Amino acid sequence: MGRTYKIGVIGGDGTGPEVVKEGLKVLSAVSEKTGFDVDLTPFDLGGERYLRTGETVPDSVIDELKGMSAIYLGAIGHPEVKPGILEKGILLRLRFELDQYINLRPVKLLPGVWTPLKDKGPEHIDFVVVRENTEGLYAGIGGAFKKGTPDEVALQVDLNTRKGVERCIRYAYEFTRARDAKKKLTLCAKTNVLTYAHDLWARVFAEVGKEYPEITQDYSHVDALVMWMVKSPEVFDVIVTNNLFGDIISDLGAMIQGGLGIAAGGNLNPKGVSMFEPIGGSAPKYAGKNVINPLAAIAAVGMMLDHLGERGAAGQVEQAVQSVTATKLKSLAAGKMGYSTTEVGDLVVAAL
Ligand code: IPM
Ligand code: MN
Repeated sequence: MGRTYKIGVIGGDGTGPEVVKEGLKVLSAVSEKTGFDVDLTPFDLGGERYLRTGETVPDSVIDELKGMSAIYLGAIGHPEVKPGILEKGILLRLRFELDQYINLRPVKLLPGVWTPLKDKGPEHIDFVVVRENTEGLYAGIGGAFKKGTPDEVALQVDLNTRKGVERCIRYAYEFTRARDAKKKLTLCAKTNVLTYAHDLWARVFAEVGKEYPEITQDYSHVDALVMWMVKSPEVFDVIVTNNLFGDIISDLGAMIQGGLGIAAGGNLNPKGVSMFEPIGGSAPKYAGKNVINPLAAIAAVGMMLDHLGERGAAGQVEQAVQSVTATKLKSLAAGKMGYSTTEVGDLVVAAL
């Protein structure tokens, strides 16, 4: 009779499994409290499996993941695997195959959290980056010619489709409309140089925007936008941008909200299976030491619950995380929290 969600769990590499364990602890506590069930299916993916078997993601796993209500991911990345193999073979492959065309990255400074921005507090830092997640320079189209010679040519294509741009921009308008904030959407692009690709973005932004008269349309070139993110982050509500710019600005966003210890994100397919993760990497040097901050992974559980329609439970997780940052942790940095990884998970459960 109750609601049951099938969650695919990918602990992954490095500190991934440790933070996921704390996230699942919180998920289990909040599900009991709120009255829904979770059915967890673990998936062994990551650098260890790759080194053991040479496999990144078998096709059968993709099919299994398509049957989940959502996916909860720790981290992918292994110091002994050449850069690009796991990123492209696992993370990007899942984003593409599951058509998770939005990467949603809230940037919110919680009470009690230190920001490197002088004179800025939680009232100034609260916006969301909507990043296109399946196209752009990430599409992997290109090639090398005469590689390794003085005449080498390297091509990497920035792919922008009308469909891909429109669904991303439309999602951003809907998200801005639903969000209880300034009702302002900023397009972040580089129309002064990328006069084909970003002209498409600008036209679609204006066109779709006609359907959302209550939303203020704003534009910023990416180079200026990063400046404003540091100087006046309070001007932003929702920012929509392409894959690569979104990758870069959301790490800057993570820093001003207190770092990778707190930053979470969602890879969304609004009509399919979405995947939620702490956006920090696998942090191999901290693996197995019980010192990494699990709050980003716990915040990712909050985002996942919100996406599944469990708004009440999502709100409770957010509140519990806030109360822990506001009243308990000395710092969000690994090893400096004043608590271990597992203790922070316990604190959040207690705050629930
Ligand atoms: C992220 C990461 C990935 C990306 C890497 C690991 C491929 O930086 O999720 O932002 O560039 O998208
Ligand atoms: Mn990134």
